[in-house]
Amino acid sequence: VFSHVVQAPEDPILGVTVAYNKDPSPVKLNLGVGAYRTEEGKPLVLNVVRRAEQQLVNDSSRVKEYLPIVGLSDFNKLSAKLILGADSPAIRENRVTTVQCLSGTGSLRVGAEFLARHYHQHTIYIPQPTWGNHPKVFTLAGLTVRSYRYYDPATRGLNFQGLLEDLGSAPSGGIVLLHACAHNPTGVDPTPQQWERIRQLMRSKALLPFFDSAYQGFASGSLDSDAQSVRMFVADGGECLVAQSYAKNMGLYGERVGALSIVCRAADVASRVESQLKLVIRPMYSNPPIHGASIVATILKDGNMYREWTIELKAMADRIITMRQKLFDALRARGTPGDWSHIIKQIGMFTFTGLNPEQVAFMRKEYHVYMTSDGRISMAGLSSRTVPHLADAIHAAVTR
Ligand code: LMR
Repeated sequence: VFSHVVQAPEDPILGVTVAYNKDPSPVKLNLGVGAYRTEEGKPLVLNVVRRAEQQLVNDSSRVKEYLPIVGLSDFNKLSAKLILGADSPAIRENRVTTVQCLSGTGSLRVGAEFLARHYHQHTIYIPQPTWGNHPKVFTLAGLTVRSYRYYDPATRGLNFQGLLEDLGSAPSGGIVLLHACAHNPTGVDPTPQQWERIRQLMRSKALLPFFDSAYQGFASGSLDSDAQSVRMFVADGGECLVAQSYAKNMGLYGERVGALSIVCRAADVASRVESQLKLVIRPMYSNPPIHGASIVATILKDGNMYREWTIELKAMADRIITMRQKLFDALRARGTPGDWSHIIKQIGMFTFTGLNPEQVAFMRKEYHVYMTSDGRISMAGLSSRTVPHLADAIHAAVTR
């Protein structure tokens, strides 16, 4: 009965790792998925995460009971504080409902399912380009996906005029996906002044912001600065949704830990919204896993651990910045044609190189360098040892 089933293509991002794993070359380099690696090219478990896990293991009162449908209560409260700020009036006034979800993707999906059932507009505007999974998540949740201009290939910067025009012509009430910071894949963010213009425009047209916050701490190295875009929208008293992921900033990729917050205008609304989120979650996966959320809650509620986390997070962000400089210098040293200054200007985990799909394919075939076909490279996967190899590959690709 399944013989008609056709082979599906690999995922454009996670499929890069599948191809990489099959490559026997000793010089192969995986710059596809946005996952942090050490200078030795190894995955990193933060010290503070190990400490929190030890503390959890030593606590014999801990059991493996089901969490509530909305997840771990402490985790939810602390996650809202982390993104909205400890002094957020929305939290003080109980206008925020936060539910623990399966990392960023799960939070986006639960939020989108909720909007499809309870929001009067079903069109979501996503930046062009955006994370490859966004259109699939929203379409499968029942929303209609449209895009707004975001990136200008000519300047390798923000197409601010295009963005304003496209959001300006979106129908009133439309949903708008915004990357809270460290835009994936471009590494290009609006300035605080541009964010303020975007906020004014969106509020004047009653466009509903849906933030994806997957890289808090990776743009500026400061958790608070990286949350400014979200906080700006919350400060005006209006509604918004925020999907948070702890995959990157706590290195909890496989623990699948994240949160969806919906900021409402009044406490009674938030409580009714939460009751409906439970109806979305229960038939999908019943309730979320306990371990990752317990790690996050342990770290966020302990002053010492929190400080240790911020130091380790900053070290990851700083190592990526060093890689940017090293790659830029290596290309300059080789006299590689083109202006590569965007490598040091762009922020977060990724560089949107401007390499085309043919050049990407060439680098994979001849140099065993793996990246997504849009030319995005994960700077977090690079080390001082591998920079020369990548620079050689880029140089060869653009001069052939
Ligand atoms: C990425 O863009 O590489 C990450 O967000 C990982 C993923 O799930 O695609």
